Amino acid sequence: MTKSYSVGNLIYDANIYDGMNTDLTDLVFYKRWLPKNKDASILELCCGTGRLTLPIAKEGFKITGVDYTTSMLKKAKDKASKENIAIDFIEADIRTLDLSKKYDFIFIPFNSIHHLYENKDLFKALSVVKKHLKKSGLFILDCFNPNIKLMVEGEKNLKKVIQYTTQDGRKILIKEIMLYEDKTQINRIEWHYFINGKFDSIQKLDMRMFFPKELDEYLKWNGFIINNKFGNFDEKAFDTNSEKQIFVCEHT
Ligand SMILES: C[S@@+](CC[C@H](N)C(=O)[O-])C[C@H]1O[C@@H](n2cnc3c(N)ncnc32)[C@H](O)[C@@H]1O
Repeated sequence: MTKSYSVGNLIYDANIYDGMNTDLTDLVFYKRWLPKNKDASILELCCGTGRLTLPIAKEGFKITGVDYTTSMLKKAKDKASKENIAIDFIEADIRTLDLSKKYDFIFIPFNSIHHLYENKDLFKALSVVKKHLKKSGLFILDCFNPNIKLMVEGEKNLKKVIQYTTQDGRKILIKEIMLYEDKTQINRIEWHYFINGKFDSIQKLDMRMFFPKELDEYLKWNGFIINNKFGNFDEKAFDTNSEKQIFVCEHT
């Protein structure tokens, strides 16, 4: 089947990803919301290379990380085994996951729901969360608050996103241009990769945008009660200028 959306391979090349994503502001937030009891069971959906999974496990929690990109998960496993940390990593799609187990705390961090392109993809993932969450458990997810001005600006020119060197020694420069598509609510982002000073490729990074009112309703329709909605990881209440939508939910 041809999909009308895609994410290029270099986007989730584990070393390129880890070299780029070193900020841990969200980790501080997630740690604040973790259960107080260290015996609690934690499930991270879309765990990637374990950027958050490993530090949470190091706090003494039992955590399971799920992701469907083999190379990202391999990196996560390698890092955990190097540091001698026991983490259950599972390669699976969060839309169809069935672990036959319930958790005290489930989270989908770091804008990962933007990869759930159709409403049915989001609804399937939310039903998976509901199935795996204990009655008293908490569910947290974070994503962007669509910034229309930024998207309009982003369509005009190719702009530098970041420049850095990966752990395996590649000098990376990424430039970005985007085109927001109203019909699908997908922001069609192109990342132009230059590696070791030479143009390498254009990688697609399609991101489904969720507008604030719709996402509130989708969570409610799918059986969640929104206890808090924050606009950043310092827990400022969500407002019109918020960069993020961060939901703390229970289920009905
Ligand atoms: C932005 S990364 C976040 C990784 C990690 N949680 C972090 O904080 O660095 C998004 C991840 O979601 C994964 N992903 C996207 N859709 C998925 C799905 N339907 N099932 C499982 N993993 C998925 C991708 O493979 C990727 O590793």
